[in-house]
Amino acid sequence: MARLLSFTISLLAVVSYVLSTPLRLPDAPRRPLVIWHGLGDSYASPGMLQFMELIKEVHPGIFIHSIRLDEDLDKDQKAGFFGDVNEQLDLVNEQIGAIPELQGGFDAIGFSQGGQFLRAYVERYNSPPINNLITFGSQHMGVSDLPMCSRWDIFCNLARRAARGGVYTQWAQHNLVQAQYYRDPDQLDAYLNSSSFLASINNEVPERANGTYAAHLATLNTLVLVLFSADKTVVPKESAWFGSYSAPNGSRRGGDEKVMVPMRLQPLYAQDWIGLRRLDQAGRVLLETCEGEHMQLAEECWRPLVERFTGGLLEEYAPSVWDEVLRVQN
Ligand SMILES: *[C@@H]1O[C@H](CO)[C@@H](O)[C@H](O)[C@H]1NC(C)=O
Ligand SMILES: *[C@@H]1O[C@H](CO)[C@@H](O)[C@H](O)[C@H]1NC(C)=O
Ligand SMILES: *[C@@H]1O[C@H](CO)[C@@H](O)[C@H](O)[C@H]1NC(C)=O
Repeated sequence: MARLLSFTISLLAVVSYVLSTPLRLPDAPRRPLVIWHGLGDSYASPGMLQFMELIKEVHPGIFIHSIRLDEDLDKDQKAGFFGDVNEQLDLVNEQIGAIPELQGGFDAIGFSQGGQFLRAYVERYNSPPINNLITFGSQHMGVSDLPMCSRWDIFCNLARRAARGGVYTQWAQHNLVQAQYYRDPDQLDAYLNSSSFLASINNEVPERANGTYAAHLATLNTLVLVLFSADKTVVPKESAWFGSYSAPNGSRRGGDEKVMVPMRLQPLYAQDWIGLRRLDQAGRVLLETCEGEHMQLAEECWRPLVERFTGGLLEEYAPSVWDEVLRVQN
């Protein structure tokens, strides 16, 4: 009797467990996402891990890959300051190519310098292709001042000190990451002559311009450029929107006054060196503003963009295919 009772109880336990577990359908397949962290950060810092969790709440089941230049967090952080960006991009291209989940294409989010690096990925490789690219506070027209360092940031202070030797030396252009997107309107000749990265991806030197870059960028679905309204880290902050100060004696009016040249007045845009004008005229470039200092990612800033431009349901999964997936899984 006791045995029967205990059998009945365990049977009841199983039945009630089965009944209490809601029938859970697998999450619908969404377009995967790649994110590239900013300067001073690493691919799995607490902030990055938290951001990825928040995105997974918005898009359950989404596959996210965080770009890394090294599995070791300290080395990955250091690679944001020291290294050859062109070589780093080759590595990232191999990394993306080795991730099966990404091979059908993906959306991408670049934080700060990660934004112009992802744009470079589109221009130079884009296989597998990026669908929507969101860049937060990125330096698409470079910086005309090096970022300020907090007192305790060793890599940042080392890089800043090293850059005093000259940002346009061969050494700096292959070893200091920030020098490779340093674009000083007062030394535009030196920049165009030596810039190993930014002048290349912006197709600013006619003899070295590469038509593939423009053809690739123009294939983006949407390019979302986010500027931080009170950004004091990126100089000028309008670089996030392809703005830059004019070169002296050009359109610069009087004295030392600096004139901001917005995206649509840039030669890069007007002559469509990189496909940006094509994209914009098709309504596929969005200039967005987030309130606050550099990378102050308030929820009202990132959430609407993440909802709208990432995690789209994949069209390849037509209803009949999806039915089949469910049938096989059940
Ligand atoms: C232009 O860029 C493409 C894509 O990165 C590359 O395959 C090609 O070799 C480049 N062409 C020249 C002339 O550098
Ligand atoms: C141009 O770059 C070369 C080395 O890449 C350097 O020797 C030369 O001085 C530079 N010229 C100018 C005008 O900056
Ligand atoms: C540009 O302006 C600076 C000072 O504003 C002046 O010294 C220089 O000669 C000017 N150069 C040209 C080419 O006009």
